[in-house]
Amino acid sequence: MAVADTGVTIPPARKTHQVKVTVNGQPREAEVEARILLVHFLRESLNLTGTHVGCDTTSCGACTVILDGKPVKSCTVFAVQANGSTIRTVEGLEQDGKLHPVQEGFHQEHGLQCGFCTPGMLIGALDFLSTNASPTEDEIRVGISGNLCRCTGYHNIVKAIKAAAPVIAQRGTVF
Ligand code: FES
Ligand code: FES
Repeated sequence: MAVADTGVTIPPARKTHQVKVTVNGQPREAEVEARILLVHFLRESLNLTGTHVGCDTTSCGACTVILDGKPVKSCTVFAVQANGSTIRTVEGLEQDGKLHPVQEGFHQEHGLQCGFCTPGMLIGALDFLSTNASPTEDEIRVGISGNLCRCTGYHNIVKAIKAAAPVIAQRGTVF
């Protein structure tokens, strides 16, 4: 511990790590402390604030992103664990000014109220649709059960995903 002239004890500098990732096709990097969660890295270091923090306890799914092809709740992953990874966030869904079909489905079917859960719902829905291209309503409800909507707007969310499914199936790729 270094001691300043004033007698105030200065704690040692916190160790930081350079984290390099590819987000929505773009190489990005920032220096963070080892304690920083992936969701905070995305929001605060990379200014990608579409990914939300709803609980910080792995419950709500608002922070869901695709990490190396798999959905993760980014409040449960340290940024340093994602070093070298490929990440897809809600910001990467729109392409050339055109909404992704799942976004269009939420728009058409009014699949949101306050919209706080929506980024995680969209990403979760896409992961689900990658495993089931033509789901029933019941299957959709199970498929998005890791994402909570505090507005309880599940009815229209399910309709939105159901509406998006055939469009996504027809284009042959989820993302
Ligand atoms: Fe990550 Fe709620 S903020 S699950
Ligand atoms: Fe408000 Fe889902 S639309 S939390």
